[in-house]
Amino acid sequence: MADKKRIGILTSGGDCAGLNAVIRAVTRCAINVYDWEVWGICKATHGLMSRPPQAIKLDVAKVDPLLTIGGTFLGTTNKGDPFAFPMTDGSLCDRSQEIIEGYDKLGLDALIGIGGDGSLAILRKLAQQGGINLVGIPKTIDNDVGITERSIGFDTAVNIATEAIDRLHFTAASHSRVMIVEVMGRDAGHIALNAGIAGGADIILIPEIPYKLEKVCEHIKKRQAQGQDYSIAVVSEAVCTESGDLVQQGHFADCRLGGIGQYLSEKITTMSGAETRVTVLGHTQRGGISSPLDRILASAFGVAAVELIAQEKYDHMVTWQERSVKAVPIAEAIKNYRAVDPQDTLVKTAKGLGICLGD
Ligand code: F6P
Repeated sequence: MADKKRIGILTSGGDCAGLNAVIRAVTRCAINVYDWEVWGICKATHGLMSRPPQAIKLDVAKVDPLLTIGGTFLGTTNKGDPFAFPMTDGSLCDRSQEIIEGYDKLGLDALIGIGGDGSLAILRKLAQQGGINLVGIPKTIDNDVGITERSIGFDTAVNIATEAIDRLHFTAASHSRVMIVEVMGRDAGHIALNAGIAGGADIILIPEIPYKLEKVCEHIKKRQAQGQDYSIAVVSEAVCTESGDLVQQGHFADCRLGGIGQYLSEKITTMSGAETRVTVLGHTQRGGISSPLDRILASAFGVAAVELIAQEKYDHMVTWQERSVKAVPIAEAIKNYRAVDPQDTLVKTAKGLGICLGD
């Protein structure tokens, strides 16, 4: 009898809700359907770089309680490109070969990498260099991985942001204030657009649509004139100042997007006289129990990834397209960044609802 197939799974990049549900789905399918061995690799490629490689043998009993739990129980990292790995002495070192050797030391036949576009690009480069049989699963609250309509974690993030907006309506109305909600999403406005529509925002600003402060203030004043003396504005973290500068926090390499909400608050108060308050949702959007939709997507992606390995169809990523899971070459899947198209149905929906997009 042939040896059991042995597969590895890792989570890479920023965490999000639904990652554990993917690990569970992969483990259940690989063991229940194919009787393979599944190894969970700790802290993304760092686990393969360690000696001995850091990995946990997974079984159904271990993964079953993970379905709803946020984060990734395997750990992850969004730092340390293995091709230019930051060493303690400040130098950068190519440690890719150590990762490939780690994969070989674990005796893996294939690897499932759950990541965003950046992580998948790195994993693919490693796979090509070291003959790793890689299958990708897209995850990111930003929902910006090309080709797939949905990535793991996005729906939960939208739910969290929507719930926050729902809550802010009451306090905004009570105090006749403009509440500014800054959401994540990196360079893409998907979270702001979706949560803004779902939460009944009055203003939605996204990086893909240039705005004018004057238009935003006009909208606030128009609402006031109609007796609606409060407004909710949702803004993506990568929206620039009116003069085109990104607002960031931190220093040097550790710079993070953040602060556009505060900028808008000051400008809106000065220009319209409205009282404003800012809520920055930050990492709450990545935490918590995963939504049913994310769990369903995670389950479908996990099973489909195992099926790809069974078919030895490597170097592919699973995607969600037109209500079904499809496999696309990873290179093609990550080639195009998926920002909000200004002609998108949801942009038209927002405009049709009379939401101000600042343009
Ligand atoms: O890519 C996911 C994301 O949450 C972005 O929306 C955000 O800009 C970034 O990661 C935050 O990264 P970190 O966890 O390093 O602060």
